[in-house]
Amino acid sequence: MTSPLTAFETVESEVRSYCRSFPVVFGGARNATLTTQDGVDYTDFLAGCSSLNYGHNDPDMQAALIEYIKSNGVTHGLDMYTNAKRDFLEAFRDIILKPRDMDYRLQFTGPTGANAVEAAIKLARKVTGRTNIVSFTNGFHGVTAGALAATGNGYHRGGNGAPLEGVTRIPYDGYLGDDMDTTQILAKMLEDPSSGVDAPAAILVETVQGEGGLNAASADWMRSIAKLAQQHGALLIVDDIQAGCGRTGTFFSFEEMGIQPDIITMAKSLSGMGLPFAMVLMKPDHDIWGPAEHNGTFRGNNHAFVTARIALEKFWKDDAFATDIKAKGDVLHKRLKAIADQHGWTLRGRGMFRGINVGNGDTAAEICKHCYQNGLIIETSGGHDEVVKVLAPLTIPMEQFEAGLAILAKAADSVMSQGSAKAA
Ligand SMILES: Cc1ncc(COP(=O)(O)O)c(C=O)c1O
Repeated sequence: MTSPLTAFETVESEVRSYCRSFPVVFGGARNATLTTQDGVDYTDFLAGCSSLNYGHNDPDMQAALIEYIKSNGVTHGLDMYTNAKRDFLEAFRDIILKPRDMDYRLQFTGPTGANAVEAAIKLARKVTGRTNIVSFTNGFHGVTAGALAATGNGYHRGGNGAPLEGVTRIPYDGYLGDDMDTTQILAKMLEDPSSGVDAPAAILVETVQGEGGLNAASADWMRSIAKLAQQHGALLIVDDIQAGCGRTGTFFSFEEMGIQPDIITMAKSLSGMGLPFAMVLMKPDHDIWGPAEHNGTFRGNNHAFVTARIALEKFWKDDAFATDIKAKGDVLHKRLKAIADQHGWTLRGRGMFRGINVGNGDTAAEICKHCYQNGLIIETSGGHDEVVKVLAPLTIPMEQFEAGLAILAKAADSVMSQGSAKAA
C-alpha cells in the first residue's frame, strides 16, 4: 500500500519544512482546529506562524469571500482600482489609522512579508540617499536577498550563496544580558565617525522577535531606538509582520510604546484568513516612489482585500477583541510560568506571543514532538530552536486553549522525566 505521504516525499522539494514535524495530511480547518483527511483533530498552536490570528476559515470572512467570488468580483487586477481595494483602504483608514491618530500611506507590495521588507528597505534608501541598514541580532525579516541581509539566522543567510551586504547588526534588547542597554552601543557607533558604521538609511526592528526566540524589546529600548533614528536622520522601520494584527494585544505591536515608526511592514495575519497579502505603511512625506518603481504582478490581492476588511470590521471597531487578547495573554503567561518554574526555564515574549526557553533545541524539539503525538501542533524558534513558541489563534475558545496548554505541560513533564531517567 502506498503511504499517504508518497506524493509529498517523492514529488515535492526537499525544501519543505513544517510538514516534516507534522507528517499527516490535513483536509480541513476551523478556528483553532486542524483536521486530518482521516478526521483526526489537532489544536493549532502554530497558526500559520501568526498568519491565522483570527483562526482558520472565519465564517464571516469565508461568507464575504464566497459572495465576492460568486458575484464575479475582480480576482486579479494588477494594481488597478477595484471596489474591493477601495473598501479595504477606507476601512483601514477609518478603523485603524484615524482612531490612533496615524497618518500613513499604504503600499501594496508582492504578497509575502519578505517583499514588504524589500520595499521598506528600498524606500528608506531612496528617501535618505544612504545605503546602510541597522538591524539586530536574532532579527528575522524574510529570505529574499535584501530582507535576508537584515536577518540574523546563519542557516537562512547561508542559503543565499552570495554575499549579503549593506547591513550593520547591533545587539537586540537583552542580547548582552538584562543590565546592558544595547542602544548605547548603537548611539556610540553612530556618533563616532570612525566607528566603521556608515550613517544608516534605516533602523529595522521587530518589537518582539518571533523567529529569533520571542525576545521582547522593552518600551524604553524601543523609544531609545526611535530617538536614535531621528537624531541620525535614519528612518525607523518596524517590521510588524509577525507581531502585528493583535498578536501582542493591540493592532500594532508598538501602540503602547509611544512611538510612530516612519515605515511599518505588515503581512501574515493582515488578510485575516491566511491569504497572501502584504503592505508597507509610510509617512506621506516619504512616499516618493515613482509609479511601479517597486513593481510586482501580485501587488494587492483582491480576495485578501475582502477578507482583510471583514477582519478590521469584525475585530477592531472597538476594544472588545484587544481586551480578550489581553485576558488570554494573562492565562498564557500564568500557565507557561508554572511550566517554566517547575523545570527551571525562562519565559519569553508578551501578549499572545509567548514561549518558554527550555535551554536547548533538542529538548524543545522533543516537547513539540510529544505535543504532536497528543494532538497539539506547536513549533520552536530561537537561534538554537530552544524556545517552544505558543502562537494560538487569538480567537481560540478558552477551553480549547487551556486543554492545549495542559498538553504542553504534560509534554514538558514527560520529556524531563525521560531525560532524568536516561541520566540515572
Ligand atoms: C518579522 C518577520 N518579517 C518578515 C517575515 C517574512 O515574511 P514571509 O515569510 O511572508 O516572506 C517574517 C516571517 O516569518 C517575519 O516573522
